Amino acid sequence: MTVTAVIGSQWGDEGKGKVVDYLSEQADYVARFNGGNNAGHTVINSFGTFKIHLVPSGIFAQNAVGLIGGGVVIDPAVLLEEINLLNNAGVGVEGRLWVSPRSHLIMPYHKILDGLYEEAKGSGATGTTRRGIGPVFADKVSYNGIRWSDFASKAFESRLQVQLELKNKIITALGGDALRYEDVRDTYREYYLKLKPYLRELFSLVQDGLKAEKHFLLEQAMGTFLDTDWGTYPFVTASTTIPSAASAGLGIPPRYITNVVAVTKAYTTRVGAGPLPTEIHDTESEVYRKFAETAATTGRTRRVGWLDLELVRTAVQLSGATELCLTKLDVLSGLDEIKICTRYELSCDPVRYADVDAYSLDQVETVFETVPGWKDDISKAGSFEDLPVNAQSYVKRIEEAVGAPVKWIGVGPEREATIRR
Ligand code: GDP
Ligand code: IMO
Ligand code: MG
Repeated sequence: MTVTAVIGSQWGDEGKGKVVDYLSEQADYVARFNGGNNAGHTVINSFGTFKIHLVPSGIFAQNAVGLIGGGVVIDPAVLLEEINLLNNAGVGVEGRLWVSPRSHLIMPYHKILDGLYEEAKGSGATGTTRRGIGPVFADKVSYNGIRWSDFASKAFESRLQVQLELKNKIITALGGDALRYEDVRDTYREYYLKLKPYLRELFSLVQDGLKAEKHFLLEQAMGTFLDTDWGTYPFVTASTTIPSAASAGLGIPPRYITNVVAVTKAYTTRVGAGPLPTEIHDTESEVYRKFAETAATTGRTRRVGWLDLELVRTAVQLSGATELCLTKLDVLSGLDEIKICTRYELSCDPVRYADVDAYSLDQVETVFETVPGWKDDISKAGSFEDLPVNAQSYVKRIEEAVGAPVKWIGVGPEREATIRR
């Protein structure tokens, strides 16, 4: 049996979707356990190109069963759209995708409040995806959430009534328009009826799978430094993004997790506000243009920076990563020199990521090492030995600095563009 958690070691968008799709062939179960449709995971394989927000990216493996755990928050409209999209693409998810009735629903007021809070914070805004993520998790932990199970137990209507009474007061006080109870009730009842065939308590399924020594592939959403506790608070997301979340979010005991794959982009990106110590500000520079990306969920431009080994080292320590998957090494091709941040200093003293808060992290000095780049296109490289020697050295430098082996290297966005060492 293997239970492999695939996590992001930076600020999200490390390429988790591609890696999960690549690793899913051996999986019996592919699962999401945290976050919601703030995630945008890109998968490019023989079925086409997909930006997936809620369904596990391993669902393309036809023998795998997809699980969306109770730790995930769900916008039903997004889930329905995604299910239709996948079915139309011939992926066929019916009868092999199960959603936990414990999962909480993103309601229209969560999305409205997300926007209103962001606007109220002005220049101190988090830069959220405005998908209602903060407000829905806040309701979850303050016992105000609505779950799929509330439909079956008939608690839905009374819980919605109370919530709308509360939320409409806040919404109108902040200048928004009140929501009509009947509208929300009817829309969500319809969602429930459409999604009912996919709802199923996962406890026995997961426990039986563990007992039968099946292979589980657990797909984290977001990245380590967006974690509510360990990220750059308050510039974080509302769920736990380290592997321990898989335990609560799916009902898998921690000791059953055998492997943790830390997906690491060969440089750094971040969407939204918050510190990014190695940030490249010169938007005209060659390196900025090379690194620039568009966010898979919101279409925003991702901020970019050089690889930050202090971050990755911290993520590896926090997650207990057993191996790394280095993505987007191909993007570095063509640069004369590459900078790597190896550690931080504050007032000339060495300082670790964990010793400073988000505001001080903005003030740290990044200590860089400059290494020679390579000119050759590496997108067709099939083995580590095919890589230019400077690219090999870059990979070895990362291993040495973070203390975990790089087992896979991404050299292109497609599933096949992956080197296994
Ligand atoms: P995720 O949220 O971690 O799944 O990552 P995203 O899908 O949001 O962003 C990663 C981006 O990098 C997507 O556009 C992927 O298609 C792309 N990508 C992933 N791995 C590689 C790689 O090794 N090389 C290149 N060039 N692109 C990659
Ligand atoms: P994947 O799974 C990158 C960021 C947002 C914002 C902060 C809070 O694709 O890697 P939220 O909407 O969650 O309340 O926003 O978190 N964020 C992500 N950034 N990738 C993601 O997911 C993200 N999910 C949330 O940009 O800064
Ligand atoms: Mg993404």
